[in-house]
Amino acid sequence: MILTLLAQMRFFAVVFLLVLTRSSTIKARKCPKECSCDDSKLTVVCAGKNLTEIPLGVDEITVKLDLKNNNFQMLPRGSFLHTPYLTHLSLQRCSISKVKEGAFRGLGRVVSLNLAYNKIDILYQESFDGLSSLKELHLDHNHIEEIQPGAFMQLGLLNVLALTHNRLVYIPNMAFQGLQNMKWLRLSYNSLNNLAPEAFAGLFALSRLSLDHNELQFFPTQTMTRLPEVKRLELSYNRMTYLGEGSVSMRKLTHLHLDHMSLQDLSDQAFSQARLLSHVDLGHNQLRYLEPLTGPTKLAILNLTGNPIYCDCHMRPLKRWATVGGAKLLGACAGPAHLSDEPLRTVTSSHLRCRSGADALKDEEEEEGEEQESDGDITATATPKQTVKCPLSCECDTEAHHATCESRGFNKVPQGFPTRTQLLDLRGNHFHFIPTSSFPGTGRVVSLHLELCKIHEIEGGAFQGMRNLLYLYLSDNDLTSLEPEAFAGVPKLTYLHLEGNRLTQVPGAALSLLPNLFVLHLERNAISKLEPAGLPSSAAPTLMDLYLSNNAISGIAKGALSFAPIGTLHLDSNNLTEVPADALADAPRLEELNLSGNSVRWIGPRAFRHASQSLRRLYMDRMGIEKMSKEALLGLGPGLTVLTVRGNQLRELPDLSALTGLETIDLRDNPLLCDCALLPLRRWIDNAKLEVAATCGHPLELRGQQVADTNIFATCPENATISTEMGAVGSRPVKIKSARVKARPGKPKLDKVSRTQHRRKAAKQKAKNKKMNEAKMGN
Ligand SMILES: *[C@@H]1O[C@H](CO)[C@@H](O)[C@H](O)[C@H]1NC(C)=O
Ligand SMILES: *[C@@H]1O[C@H](CO)[C@@H](O)[C@H](O)[C@H]1NC(C)=O
Ligand SMILES: *[C@@H]1O[C@H](CO)[C@@H](O)[C@H](O)[C@H]1NC(C)=O
Ligand SMILES: *[C@@H]1O[C@H](CO)[C@@H](O)[C@H](O)[C@H]1NC(C)=O
Ligand SMILES: *[C@@H]1O[C@H](CO)[C@@H](O)[C@H](O)[C@H]1NC(C)=O
Repeated sequence: MILTLLAQMRFFAVVFLLVLTRSSTIKARKCPKECSCDDSKLTVVCAGKNLTEIPLGVDEITVKLDLKNNNFQMLPRGSFLHTPYLTHLSLQRCSISKVKEGAFRGLGRVVSLNLAYNKIDILYQESFDGLSSLKELHLDHNHIEEIQPGAFMQLGLLNVLALTHNRLVYIPNMAFQGLQNMKWLRLSYNSLNNLAPEAFAGLFALSRLSLDHNELQFFPTQTMTRLPEVKRLELSYNRMTYLGEGSVSMRKLTHLHLDHMSLQDLSDQAFSQARLLSHVDLGHNQLRYLEPLTGPTKLAILNLTGNPIYCDCHMRPLKRWATVGGAKLLGACAGPAHLSDEPLRTVTSSHLRCRSGADALKDEEEEEGEEQESDGDITATATPKQTVKCPLSCECDTEAHHATCESRGFNKVPQGFPTRTQLLDLRGNHFHFIPTSSFPGTGRVVSLHLELCKIHEIEGGAFQGMRNLLYLYLSDNDLTSLEPEAFAGVPKLTYLHLEGNRLTQVPGAALSLLPNLFVLHLERNAISKLEPAGLPSSAAPTLMDLYLSNNAISGIAKGALSFAPIGTLHLDSNNLTEVPADALADAPRLEELNLSGNSVRWIGPRAFRHASQSLRRLYMDRMGIEKMSKEALLGLGPGLTVLTVRGNQLRELPDLSALTGLETIDLRDNPLLCDCALLPLRRWIDNAKLEVAATCGHPLELRGQQVADTNIFATCPENATISTEMGAVGSRPVKIKSARVKARPGKPKLDKVSRTQHRRKAAKQKAKNKKMNEAKMGN
């Protein structure tokens, strides 16, 4: 009896359970009202809703949660405790600046977490606690400056960590501890200039490391010895000038990218420990010669493209070595004239002859002279650290060809550096005044650091004799002006940093002695006007990038920009009250113009007409623009790839239909008036296949809605000809051609910006090298 009762109870319980599970599969799952939910795929999408808090009521069973394009600012502890089955979590572009410790606790199944394009600046010790299954972590395009020890401690299964496009300057010891399964670490596009010796300790499985587009000045040999498994190392676009003996001692390395740097020379023993190297890219450096490389036995490709290789007898050993070892030499001769542009692969040993001219001979003698002069160094390499000459209280690394006397309280420039020094770091001293010929015997120095030295005057000829100087850092000093002869004797100078001084004018006369100047930084000075007076007609014939951000420029006179063929002009955060339309006539090659952070209320018709053929990127954020003439952008066409007008007071926009080449457009934070007058914009957005963020500010009931989402436009007459008081868009029928945008759907738009920037940099470097070649061949 009792038994049957029990059996019956069990039967009812089973039926009851069945009914329960049945009804829960039939009943629609919970779905927050801001989100769209796909029950069959267990996916919830709440993207682009300006949410400020993680929506409550996401069904517990959800596996993919897409929260991108919101406005969370901060992720508190335990933000996702209610969705323990998540495997994919997207939080990119959510204005997140802080991730509290334990924010992701409870997410033990997540394999992919995307936090790209936020504003995170510090990674705290327990930021990623709980993500014990995580395989991919995207933290690119944030503001990360600091990684606290133990930040990644809990991520033992992580394979890929993307930290590109952040603000890292330094990587401390043990920063990546705990990541014992990581395969690829991406640190490209930061400002790294220093890696602690144990920075990469614990990355036992790492096979690929990307460190390109940083500011490393030498190869971090010791740090790299902690990476036993790395096969591929990307260091392109750094600032190295020399690779010394044994620099690259990574035994499993097969692919090494060292292109687009400033290598003047490298030791034939530089790769002696890296025997498995098969691809070495040394493209776009300043190498004139190269000796056969000791060490690698399997070298397949040695890329020397874009170097000013001088094809004379000194290149014979390399050529022979490559032929015997089966290595493909890529690149071409830059000289002598009769071999110029001849591919290295086809040029034969019999062509590689010396005594091609008296000049070449003279050059060689000069070099020999220097070798003898530097006898001390040569014996020093034989018996290390004995007779190295080096000024008292400085450090001279004869291996790396560096000398540093950083912050040693000097009030006179110390002298007596090893003759082969290529990087001289004197920052943080108190020189006040730099007299004529302050740097004797530094003819090989490529990079000179004089930041933060309280310098208020530089006498004419101060750098005399530094004939190989390419980078000069005079940032954050007290200069109010520069003598016309200040840069006499440094004809190769290419990058000049004068930001953070008190200059009241562009020092045009001084610049006229720099025929190879390419990039000039004048940010954070006290320049109030740009005037042609005092500038020779062509002061800097090669200057391409001029940075004038954060000055007090209120006007640009016509002719003021004609001293250089400027391609990039940053005028952001100045005191301009109008677009300097006339002055742009002097910059017919202008490609990038940043006007953000000025105070310009009105953009008149054809404001960019003079740059319309060349302009590619135009930034006009946070300028208080209230109105743009409907012809404001007239003349600009398919060439324009980036346009930003974020954070202005625009209620409407001029016709964008001619801008068929746009890859990025940023219209955010404008109080756009969403009525039929905006229909052309809406159509344009629909056609553009770009992620276009534009929200309505008016009328009130539409405030906050995406222009692309609102359905107000459905009620507009087919070909709207509504005119409004503002009159910018609709005063005549607007025909919207379908925008033929090259952008591929699904790719984040900023990716494209970086690619464009990359291309631009490459083009610049190319131009620069070309110039250098020409300069050299002219000798
Ligand atoms: C060699 O370098 C050039 C320029 O950097 C590059 O375009 C090319 O793809 C490289 N070739 C190989 C085979 O790596
Ligand atoms: C343009 O200027 C603004 C304001 O100074 C700055 O935030 C932004 O990064 C600049 N953009 C570019 C591409 O230089
Ligand atoms: C330039 O603008 C800044 C900030 O807007 C202001 O403090 C400064 O007084 C202005 N300078 C001049 C010379 O107008
Ligand atoms: C998004 O929300 C914030 C805070 O709720 C608000 O200040 C802001 O104006 C909103 N932005 C848009 C574009 O609706
Ligand atoms: C609207 O304009 C398009 C092309 O400009 C035209 O093909 C279409 O017939 C017009 N529609 C109406 C209702 O006028």
